Amino acid sequence: MSGHVLIAGGGIIGLSCAFEAARRGSRVTVVEPNRFGGQASGAAAGMLAPYSENTEQPDVFFDLCRYSLDRYEQWVADVEYASGDQVEWMRTGSLNIAFHEADVLPMQTRLIWQNARGARAELVEGAALRSLEPRLTERAAAGLYCPAESHVFAPKLVAALYEACLRLGVQLIEHAGAIVAADSGTSSSLSGSGGVSITTASGARYEADRLVLCAGAWSGAYEQMLGFAPEVHPIRGQICSFEAPVTDVRHMVFTSQAYWVGKQNGAIVCGASEDVSGFDTTVTERGIDRLIRATDRTFPFLAGKPTIKRWAGLRPATRDGRPLIGVPDGAPNVIVAAGHYRNGILLSPGTAHIVGDLLDRKAPAVPLGEFRPDRFSRVAAGGF
Ligand code: GLY
Repeated sequence: MSGHVLIAGGGIIGLSCAFEAARRGSRVTVVEPNRFGGQASGAAAGMLAPYSENTEQPDVFFDLCRYSLDRYEQWVADVEYASGDQVEWMRTGSLNIAFHEADVLPMQTRLIWQNARGARAELVEGAALRSLEPRLTERAAAGLYCPAESHVFAPKLVAALYEACLRLGVQLIEHAGAIVAADSGTSSSLSGSGGVSITTASGARYEADRLVLCAGAWSGAYEQMLGFAPEVHPIRGQICSFEAPVTDVRHMVFTSQAYWVGKQNGAIVCGASEDVSGFDTTVTERGIDRLIRATDRTFPFLAGKPTIKRWAGLRPATRDGRPLIGVPDGAPNVIVAAGHYRNGILLSPGTAHIVGDLLDRKAPAVPLGEFRPDRFSRVAAGGF
């Protein structure tokens, strides 16, 4: 790979793509309007949970999640080596809890297809469930235990990626301010020069040969500036945490209402709402109360304990819940890597590898047809 790559967005996807592009030999500039990892990446619980996030049937999205999970071991080793930092990766496994017998049957169906795809999951009940998660409510009827799932401390992974990029010579522009123009370099765009660029409100202009759009929930605005239909929208996730030793919640625990993840700093993170609130990251009483009620029900030992922190992030959502990854029609120097919705941390190594291949003009290992960034406008135009 050669040439200059401009990355719009300094969240986990942008920094991962920057690390991958730089180690493949590109000159890379990342432009972040605010703080690196300061949006959804900083708010995330860091779950690497393709089975818990895909409960229905395996599909191309599940395959993408697995492709990325399969790369995590090597990815973390590479990022830790390149940065000299440690990433907090806890291989706890997960437990999906059913409160009623009627909810156990769908779990059995799920167990069959997920085990055919490497989950090594088992259904646990009674004493076996209690010994896995001793502080779980006795009202739990069963749990689907999946040892293949794990979690990272997303802020540490972001910090390590930042450091790795810095050491590889990536130009990291933080607090660049609002982006007011983006040029795909095609004949129909502003310059028509073949070069891509983005311009900030203060008039700074960043130019390169290729543009990778990784702006999370803000990607829709870039799509518009580039002349595409905006297909990424923010969905707020409100989260809170409780203080407790990490041994009090041993696995990532999921119910139909919430999830809990124990971090090494003594915070049990509980997430998350899914609200349409535009770009508002305010935390609401209603949003957090729902999480507190779910916590009381699932982990009675936390009932009445105050939350130690409350926060919110904006997930980048698309109409079909799948990310946009690929080169849009008519803009050969642009790569979109956005709309990762609930799975940005999980999908970061896989996305970076795919983007690296696209920058190398190689066919990625994962078929991208279902993730095409222009798939919605193609349907509207009768293109499929
Ligand atoms: N991946 C969990 C969430 O988006 O809340």
